[in-house]
Amino acid sequence: MNKNITIIPGDGIGQEVVAGAIKVLEVVGKKFHHQFRFTNALAGGAALDAVGIPLPEETLKSCRASDAVLLGAVGGPKWDSKPPQLKPEQALLGLRKGLGLYANIRPAKIYPALISASSLKREILEGVDIIVVRELTGGIYFGTPRGVETKNGERTATNTLTYSEFEVRRIAKSAFDIARKRRKKVCSVDKANILETSQLWRSAIIDAAKEFPDVELSHMYVDNCAMQLIRNPRRFDVIVTENMFGDILSDEAAMLTGSIGMLASASLGGTVALYEPVHGSAPDIAGQNKANPIATIASVAMMMRFSFNLQSEADAVEAAIQKVLDNGFRTSDIVTEGCTPVGTKEMTEKICAAILL
Ligand code: IPM
Ligand code: MG
Repeated sequence: MNKNITIIPGDGIGQEVVAGAIKVLEVVGKKFHHQFRFTNALAGGAALDAVGIPLPEETLKSCRASDAVLLGAVGGPKWDSKPPQLKPEQALLGLRKGLGLYANIRPAKIYPALISASSLKREILEGVDIIVVRELTGGIYFGTPRGVETKNGERTATNTLTYSEFEVRRIAKSAFDIARKRRKKVCSVDKANILETSQLWRSAIIDAAKEFPDVELSHMYVDNCAMQLIRNPRRFDVIVTENMFGDILSDEAAMLTGSIGMLASASLGGTVALYEPVHGSAPDIAGQNKANPIATIASVAMMMRFSFNLQSEADAVEAAIQKVLDNGFRTSDIVTEGCTPVGTKEMTEKICAAILL
């Protein structure tokens, strides 16, 4: 198989974790006889420094011309003083919108070897296996009007939360499709006791559910969901929710697994999909060989599965991650007593070696 992949390392640890993921892609190519060709593209602070805007048109063009996109992370204190439209994070939003990636898939599955790295008790965590399906191109992230204005001599800021039935139905379908291949349970999370958008969300989800009578649908308010995720996370199979609730709940779900450094994501819905770790650019540890590359490497596994339909390749990458963890190797974010601390590069090398075994 020949595949073109656009690589967007971005900022901070993005550079290091993406370098690790490329090594893994090369090893997978070698083992399974595929050719992965890489095109580097700029986004975020790296693009601001090079060309003065967070998302150059050229980057979008490169993504559209490729078979998949791998992104590291964007952002950092260096660009904090930029005006809203020139913040590195705008690159991510522009990529999601520009590529039509409305469905963000964020699995939070416990690696048994890592249970002790979590801040929760073992008996709460055992068997946890959740997928958060986050709507990614609508809601308050994109709604208009938005902005800051001066009213009666005082600055006042506005953002708008808006959803159409169409947007809700299509993300519902993504969630039901995924649930069908799993434990067949969808929990839709909203704030329907307060928000009209959530009332519409709920009724559109119920509508969409009619085509999936084999999947059990439940509804939960977002505040309750935040609580249930740490009280009894095993009750969840697929969680479907709007953009900002999904942003928050997916970080919470990620921490169940011990570290946000473990969590991969796929953004689907357009002609080309984007894969990225759930974590950010972690400027405090950037360039120090400390970052956990596993989230990005696990994102490569998702790429194999969702974009290329290469199941054995995806399994091989995931099994290699598991094996290296079982053998006790840990980056600093997940290290516990009795384990062997390793850096980004060593972790990557161990995983590559395990794939080639
Ligand atoms: C995420 C991040 C982004 C988001 C930021 C960096 C724009 O937190 O992917 O979860 O809020 O969507
Ligand atoms: Mg987030």
